[in-house]
Amino acid sequence: MQLSWKVFFVFLLVSSCSNEVKPYNAVVVTRHHLATDVGAKILENGGNAVDSAVAIAFALAVVNPSAGNLGGGGFLLYYNADENKTYALDYRERAPIDADENMFLDADGNVIKNLSLNSYLAAGIPGTVKGMFTIHELFGSKSMDDLISPSVKLASEGFRLSDFQANNFNKYRKKFLNGSDSESIFINSDDKDFSAGDVFTQTDLAESLRLIKDKGQKVFYEGEIAEKIVSDFSDNGGLITSQDLRDYEVYFKEPICGDYKQYNVCSMPLPSSGGIAIIQMLNIIENFDLKNYSHNSLDYIKLLTKVMSFAYADRSEYLGDEDFFDVPKEKLISKKYAAEISKKIKSGEKITVEPGIYFYEGDQTTHFSVIDFDGNVVSNTYTLNTAYGSGIVAKGTGILMNNEMDDFSIKPGTPNAYGLIGSEANKIEAKKSPLSSMSPTIIFENSKPVLITGSQGGSMIINTVLQEILNVLEFDLKLSESNKKNRIHYQWKPDVLFYEDLDEKLIEALKKDLRLYQRNIGETQSIALENDEYKGWPDHRRPDGKKIELH
Ligand code: GLY
Repeated sequence: MQLSWKVFFVFLLVSSCSNEVKPYNAVVVTRHHLATDVGAKILENGGNAVDSAVAIAFALAVVNPSAGNLGGGGFLLYYNADENKTYALDYRERAPIDADENMFLDADGNVIKNLSLNSYLAAGIPGTVKGMFTIHELFGSKSMDDLISPSVKLASEGFRLSDFQANNFNKYRKKFLNGSDSESIFINSDDKDFSAGDVFTQTDLAESLRLIKDKGQKVFYEGEIAEKIVSDFSDNGGLITSQDLRDYEVYFKEPICGDYKQYNVCSMPLPSSGGIAIIQMLNIIENFDLKNYSHNSLDYIKLLTKVMSFAYADRSEYLGDEDFFDVPKEKLISKKYAAEISKKIKSGEKITVEPGIYFYEGDQTTHFSVIDFDGNVVSNTYTLNTAYGSGIVAKGTGILMNNEMDDFSIKPGTPNAYGLIGSEANKIEAKKSPLSSMSPTIIFENSKPVLITGSQGGSMIINTVLQEILNVLEFDLKLSESNKKNRIHYQWKPDVLFYEDLDEKLIEALKKDLRLYQRNIGETQSIALENDEYKGWPDHRRPDGKKIELH
């Protein structure tokens, strides 16, 4: 009798294991189909969300070089389902030790055009490699060899360029003609344009990735790669020194979280302005009953424009790296402050705005989202700043270097590449992080992730993420539907409402109060819980993105 019970128990155990129903399905969504394939394969082979994200980050550096990177930095939000805890990892670039607030100004105090964008002075100390190793060390389960090998293969054997990518390389040809190694990598040797289907190989990058895979992150910050970067930068008037690379640190920070109705919204804290601005805007919107507004109606757009103007004005005035500037963040994200702003909006009060510059960059920065079978989540946005960063490849490394120094307020009151104005809070100081708009975000309902999102788009990132949140939470749209909705963007300065497409009557009505400019806005790679299943959606605004949903 006893034996048969044991046999029965073993049978029960085996049958329950073999029929094990995973509590979650898994999803990977990125900007490039090959990076999505890499990330999904890691999950299929038993890796977790962190493993998948690390492999994706390295793969995007190869297959999406306008924004994926080793020579840039970013922000990673990680939700650990076991602990029911969200971690925020800041692997943003820092200013070199020799940087100072006058470094981009001439003797008369005027900004020297393009110095903060396309020169050896434009790069901050890159954080991506240390960021990926740090998150992996704490939460990864696969070996770094498993996670980096696919990228080594993509770089050494090459991959076929899509129509979009071939044209994009051709479009930025002038930027690559800068005397650095980028000329031989991103310009065809026979001087012909790239075409769709061309196999694009990156020999030096493959070697750098191989070194990182075999020797770890130290090789980037203290070893052969560091030496090559420092030597190229010192030969060409750059500031990055061995000490800068050796001293570089990444930081885990408390995410910025706030309640919006029944949801808990968590996003990136400073030096991202995104978390604070998104919570601030949602707090203001909570004072308006959105049931009375139809999507993209005149009233809705006017309301969003006002809400955005207050948040972006505060961004300009108060936000910067809080290790260097006392940021009143508790006030900015308080419900009380939001109620005061709402009152002003309802009474018709406006803040003063002035014209500024338009901005055009559109291929910079990239976001990806991952959820694994155990419900762990990574929401990651990283960047070289503008497309292909400074356009400078550090000699012999194949690594494109960022131009993140332009995200500082290079002269208070002077707009950066995104038309953003900064103040004392975001002035250049040694080892400081430039203020960012990157906003990886995770939204929870009853401690369960219901929306994982983030975007590219410089200053437009914050408003893109806000509209994705409102579309899903307030207008009950599926991601596929949300993605088709036209977006708007208003950032206080310049006093221009950017819009994707709106009907003629609406445009005429908006023109009475606002200057309008049509352009693409943002590019989300989101995951949402729809009917008890996680669904991904790569933004249709750009080709080449891909989601994989695993069951
Ligand atoms: N470089 C764009 C951002 O960090 O906002």
